[in-house]
Amino acid sequence: MPKNIAVLVGSLRKDSFNRKVAKQLIALAPETMKFDLVEIGQLSLYNQDLDDNPPEEWLEFRDQIRKSDGVLFVTPEYNRSIPGVLKNAIDIGSRPYGESAWERKPAAVISVTPGRTGAFGANHHLRQCLVFLDMPCMQQPEAYIGGAGKLFNANDEIEDESTRELLRSFITSFSEWVTVLSETRGSKPQAA
Ligand code: FNR
Repeated sequence: MPKNIAVLVGSLRKDSFNRKVAKQLIALAPETMKFDLVEIGQLSLYNQDLDDNPPEEWLEFRDQIRKSDGVLFVTPEYNRSIPGVLKNAIDIGSRPYGESAWERKPAAVISVTPGRTGAFGANHHLRQCLVFLDMPCMQQPEAYIGGAGKLFNANDEIEDESTRELLRSFITSFSEWVTVLSETRGSKPQAA
């Protein structure tokens, strides 16, 4: 059975480098994975007052996450952290308390920037959220993609072979990560 992967891109920009990298990862992925690019720009701002009567788009979003076998985050860095739109989606998926859609979903993080630091700050801020959300996050290979402004050809493909190899290795490892972990997901130890 193919594994269903929810892909969240932390940029709403029309020509987003992150979205292009997400599409390149999908193109390089093994056939054992099926991808769903989950949109997050339509999600209204999280407000705990709405927990008892949530907007329809929150419910749809949570369902999209729940039905996935794993979650791939592709994020830019805004002021050395993740963009608010991505944090908003994470918060919406995490509530109501005790009903988080994220729990135990295997995850991977890749960060992309035209800058030189590879959006390391955003990558690791996001990992901090995943610890609390109980999402086992792939550790290696790490992927901090810098210089994104020069990576793509006219067809939005990456030609640089070392970057392609990193992306191929990243998505293949993630496939293995999801396969192994999804076999044990749901077997959360019960309290005595
Ligand atoms: C940025 N950018 C940025 N880049 C970076 O490497 N580190 C940073 O801390 C920031 N901070 C930042 C804040 C805000 C508010 C914006 C709008 C931008 C630049 C950012 O990497 C660039 O806009 C990318 O193109 C964003 O990714 P997408 O939209 O191309 O996927």
